[in-house]
Amino acid sequence: MNEMSTEGLRGAVPHAVTTPDRIPAARYYDPAFYELEKQHLWPRVWQMAARLEEIPDVGDYAVYRNLDQSVIVIRTAADEVKAYQNHCRHRGVELVQKRGKARGGFICPFHGWRWDKDGNNTFVYEPTAFSADNMCKADLDLVPVRLETWMGCAFINFDDGAPPLRDTLGDFGRKMDGFKAEQLRAEWWLAARLPVNWKLAMEAFMEGYHVATTHPQLLPMGVTNKPGDARYIKLPDDAVTATFWITMGSTMPDEVDSRQFIDAYAEVMQVLSEGMAGMTSPEEVEIVRSLRDTPLPAHPAAAAAAFRTILNDAIADYYKSNGMDCGDFNALDRERLATNVNFLFPHFFMLPVHGAASSYRIRPTGPEECIFELWSLKRYPVGQEPPIPPVPEPKPHDDPSWPPIPRQDYANLPRQQRGLHGAGFEYMRLSEQMEGLVSNFHRLEDGFIGGASQAALVKGMQTVSGAIDVPVRYWE
Ligand code: FES
Ligand SMILES: [Fe+2]
Repeated sequence: MNEMSTEGLRGAVPHAVTTPDRIPAARYYDPAFYELEKQHLWPRVWQMAARLEEIPDVGDYAVYRNLDQSVIVIRTAADEVKAYQNHCRHRGVELVQKRGKARGGFICPFHGWRWDKDGNNTFVYEPTAFSADNMCKADLDLVPVRLETWMGCAFINFDDGAPPLRDTLGDFGRKMDGFKAEQLRAEWWLAARLPVNWKLAMEAFMEGYHVATTHPQLLPMGVTNKPGDARYIKLPDDAVTATFWITMGSTMPDEVDSRQFIDAYAEVMQVLSEGMAGMTSPEEVEIVRSLRDTPLPAHPAAAAAAFRTILNDAIADYYKSNGMDCGDFNALDRERLATNVNFLFPHFFMLPVHGAASSYRIRPTGPEECIFELWSLKRYPVGQEPPIPPVPEPKPHDDPSWPPIPRQDYANLPRQQRGLHGAGFEYMRLSEQMEGLVSNFHRLEDGFIGGASQAALVKGMQTVSGAIDVPVRYWE
């Protein structure tokens, strides 16, 4: 696609991103724009519909809803999961409402039509009372929805012409395969109802630029984000992980004391663990503490690199000796795939720290409201997995039970949504170096709304999915 035709497409999109580091505010509240997303984005993308541990046995199903669509995700065999539109082929009643077990298939509660778990219609009450035209098999079986399983999750796509999920994953796929994310199980699952546009909610997690101000507890003691102060930290350009740069960013002298360094590292992991009520597991914090007598090089960068290698191996050994698989963390580091926050277009995040992770999914429920779900994911020995968490009832964004870190993020969001309406606030101005993912996301969205070619959209998805904190990128 040449430059001119791309510009032509973008011109057809209302509130289009025409300057990459400026995002028009109306994209976050104009109902007409929301409608365009509903028509041109959501029906054509892979959506994370369920975690597979929700449906462990044949016949187990989970319902995934987004906008006005409802889909049944059902395990049809030990190694097979399928999806159907959740509506009766007679007069449209939703067949199931929540997660459940359909051992004998589905029965419509209105007039009793039935289907087996493979979606075949098995019963119509008084079929001779209908014209033959209305009783052909294709009209009676449940409508299938494309589904692919990967990374311990079921993904669905309403577009039969969309590329396979694998072709769209970009670096996100390599990261999660190397991390063996498919081995993780949900420790807990929560949901927040946020009074903000779904994109705004996601973008609070697309850059680490906000961490120093919004989450000051994540700064090492004595460090500040006030420019001009001698204790001001500048984030290193080549940060491997958040824990790495936070530890590195402390006001350590030219030479580090090994024990002091390892204690600081354990402290950061502890604060993350408490702040997220997950994300780093307490077992891993204990492993850090158990290493405190490890001698490290005196130079801070060398100490950090050496410690990370030692710690990665110690954590991997812990998992393997307890019968859990976790991948090679040092190989991920060498390939620069061990980033802490990773986005999967269009609405999903994975946040691994060493062997555990948090995960987010965001779904719109109106132009200015959304559901933000969080999972804490851990590795468990076979047979010791926790019970399946119940489907969460969304809680208000300011519910006092939120762990400290999401509570801090959620506190900014309603204020930001209101501020976007302010007269004279035409667009967000982004750092093209640190907030590039926000721009990359919106320009890919414009590609969907404006009718870019499938080849351009695939390249865009491969470019956008992966680490956060990336610069503005181009793919056309
Ligand atoms: S609406 Fe389902 S059987 Fe009539
Ligand atoms: Fe945050």
